[in-house]
Amino acid sequence: MDLWLLLIIGAFVGAAFFIYRMYTSQKTATKASGDDYSSSSSDSDSEPEEEIEEREFTLEELHKYNGIDSPEKKIYVSVCGKVFDVTGSGFYGPNETYDMFAGHESSVALAKNELKPSLLDQMDLSSLNAFEKDQLNSMFSHFEFKYRVVGWLKEFEEANKKDK
Ligand code: HEM
Repeated sequence: MDLWLLLIIGAFVGAAFFIYRMYTSQKTATKASGDDYSSSSSDSDSEPEEEIEEREFTLEELHKYNGIDSPEKKIYVSVCGKVFDVTGSGFYGPNETYDMFAGHESSVALAKNELKPSLLDQMDLSSLNAFEKDQLNSMFSHFEFKYRVVGWLKEFEEANKKDK
């Protein structure tokens, strides 16, 4: 009886670990895909995660990181002023589902769960209601968990200085 229980628990733990490894190896592949300050262009799985120095982006600079105009066709998305490298995710490249966000500060659109270009690059979050703030928080956590941070957005930091 006890042995069966142990076997079942073992199978669950094994499956959970397997799923976790699948997910983290994808994440490492994205994270190791190179950056624009480095001469390395390899993205082999065995390569350790590259150290990059986070830096400030202006909105104008960020706009170039749309997968078309950027160095190495990199795609960056800003959420709450944190700039994430989302290159290769399959969501933000040209003609992909969420390409609207590529190269933009996206907090208000994510908070309101609307794909409206007019909601991009808005730095003022003070008009969001509690539900929208929650929605934004969970999206922010999702991005932090999944993507590498490459820097911060100057205009957002300036607009929200007092909240930091
Ligand atoms: C009918 C409406 C929608 C459906 C069925 C839907 C479905 C999904 C699904 C299934 C995922 C997870 C994909 C995955 O991890 O493989 C996802 C992720 C996401 N969705 Fe939606 N979505 C919808 C609307 C929206 C809207 C309106 C927005 C934006 C305001 C949005 C923004 C996002 C973002 C940012 C992600 C995360 C992508 C990432 O991991 O980088 N979605 N959506």
